Amino acid sequence: MQTIQLSTPSMQGLITIGEGVIEERLGALLQGQKNFLVTDSNVAAIYADKIRIWFGDTPTFVMPAGEENKTFSTLGDILSAMVEAGIRRTGRVFALGGGVVGDIAGLAAATYMRGVSCVQIPTTLLSQIDSSVGGKTAVDHGGVKNVVGAFYQPQEVLIDPAFLDTLPQREVKCGLGEAVKYAALDSDIFDALYQNKHRFADLAFLKTLIYPCVAHKAKVVQADEKETGERKSLNVGHTTGHAIELVYRLSHGESVLWGMKAETQIAVDAGACEKSYGAQLQEIIASALSIAPTQKTAFDADNFAYKAKADKKNDESGRINLSVAARKGVWVGVDLTFDDYLSRLKECL
Ligand SMILES: NC(=O)c1ccc[n+]([C@@H]2O[C@H](COP(=O)([O-])OP(=O)(O)OC[C@H]3O[C@@H](n4cnc5c(N)ncnc54)[C@H](O)[C@@H]3O)[C@@H](O)[C@H]2O)c1
Repeated sequence: MQTIQLSTPSMQGLITIGEGVIEERLGALLQGQKNFLVTDSNVAAIYADKIRIWFGDTPTFVMPAGEENKTFSTLGDILSAMVEAGIRRTGRVFALGGGVVGDIAGLAAATYMRGVSCVQIPTTLLSQIDSSVGGKTAVDHGGVKNVVGAFYQPQEVLIDPAFLDTLPQREVKCGLGEAVKYAALDSDIFDALYQNKHRFADLAFLKTLIYPCVAHKAKVVQADEKETGERKSLNVGHTTGHAIELVYRLSHGESVLWGMKAETQIAVDAGACEKSYGAQLQEIIASALSIAPTQKTAFDADNFAYKAKADKKNDESGRINLSVAARKGVWVGVDLTFDDYLSRLKECL
């Protein structure tokens, strides 16, 4: 087992990575109080037998799978079920699933009785390398991604790579979106992805990315929990990616890959990113996009760019702030007028 201790002003959290981690840690975490499990319909079906063994008669809410259900309405249903189950302040919320379950169950934990403790058990590549760590919780609202939420650190994160064995290829691709983001920020992850860009469908290789990605994120979150500085680096590809995700209804990870492609090109054109490094990063992005390819390969910037204005990272001036890769292991902020952003986008997607 590999462990990482994440200390922020608000919480000391333990992250444990390894096959069998649930059997090793869960018993102690469940003991002593009434708990609550949130999972989704796919995970509940695939892991029905294991859930019964692991969680016994723990009250459970099975939300319908999918980003379209990461809403206030589902959050309300979860909170109602927690009230009905009689969960007390000492109770723990266990989030078993991908980033959607993690984000919404984390927000339920953050708000129920002004905060009960939360344990994340991520089951997708995206959630294992990224979303389960760092305490961002949210639901989508009013056509804006993650616009209602809270920073709320989980008490523990239990990452068992064996969950990836049942993950469909298109979900592997979603995780690659966040892995490529880390490549843009961390030299070692960049080298690993560049040297293995023909192995992006190989689970054995992908599992080796979990620890370095989580370690990178933990370091960044520890330095800047509330995203006033260094944590903005984790938004590379995300301003454009979120806009694409909302308008074209592609998955989060695939949208981030398209966002990375566009923003890396914008950064090279603006002189913010080294040309040869930008080209290598584009090779990694292209290789990730070739996994489980979808029909959607062209985007009309006029149709989606306006969504970038509403992104949480931008202020009311209407300017677009992008976090972009500059050179190996280094990122910078690029600030563009909306018109400049739009015209550059049209050239690169
Ligand atoms: N909080 C953060 O810091 C953060 C960071 C990145 C992304 N996110 C959020 O994460 C979400 C995307 O997460 P995701 O890609 O995990 O999506 P997801 O949770 O929708 O999971 C993807 C699909 O895989 C299924 N699934 C989950 N585990 C499985 C398994 N082991 N085997 C088979 N199927 C399985 C799910 O039921 C779902 O259909 C977005 O809402 C995004 O905004 C949050």
